[in-house]
Amino acid sequence: MKQFSKRIAVMHWLIVLLFIIALYLGHQLADTPNSADKLSLFPIHFLIGDLILLLTLLRIYFRKRDGEPAAANANPLLNKLAGITHVLLNLVAIAVAVSGAVTALSSGVINAVKAGDPALIPDFEKVAAHEFHELFIGVFVALVVFHVAAALYHQFIVKDQLLRRIMIKRFPD
Ligand code: HEM
Ligand code: HEM
Repeated sequence: MKQFSKRIAVMHWLIVLLFIIALYLGHQLADTPNSADKLSLFPIHFLIGDLILLLTLLRIYFRKRDGEPAAANANPLLNKLAGITHVLLNLVAIAVAVSGAVTALSSGVINAVKAGDPALIPDFEKVAAHEFHELFIGVFVALVVFHVAAALYHQFIVKDQLLRRIMIKRFPD
């Protein structure tokens, strides 16, 4: 087996897409003054964040069931580093979503959305979980930059077709 299973690959790229949208919406939320427009953005951000959590958990489950392709590097240390990065990416993705959910639940924003009243939107700077949401997002973005740089290094410098491992398209072994 030289590729991750098709369903793992589909979930990987779906999560990438949803993360870009969640990051964009999160920044929109932070930059938009309290208003009816802002109220309507919250549920979309929450829904996409929850979907990321669900897909990440499903991918961890299916990865256990489907197995993974043989190690990509000749160097065992690099394989270990790749493995640690993948575990961290999963853990921090979960931490981002959970800290977001705790921010939503502990800040009173859900009441504001339910009442449709922008005056009830809380000051997130005073919500402890929001600090963690921001911190985990920062760590996550740094991990993704490292992960993508490693993938591109393999693909274009080492030229070992690493990207094929996570592509949805199937290639003969
Ligand atoms: C899993 C992917 C997620 C990403 C990438 C993400 C990203 C972001 C970003 C970039 C911000 C702006 C940070 C700032 O205030 O400077 C933010 C704010 C926020 N997020 Fe998330 N988030 C995610 C999941 C969630 C989930 C699952 C929830 C709740 C169910 C949530 C609730 C919130 C709340 C309440 C805020 C504060 C909004 C504000 O500052 O006005 N997030 N998020
Ligand atoms: C939100 C962003 C991303 C996350 C959370 C993420 C996460 C992961 C994880 C956890 C794996 C291990 C396979 C698994 O457990 O399912 C993986 C594999 C992989 N990802 Fe990503 N990834 C992201 C973005 C990207 C991007 C943008 C690229 C391409 C430039 C990429 C290329 C790869 C490759 C080539 C592999 C296979 C690596 C190997 O077999 O050693 N990823 N990714």
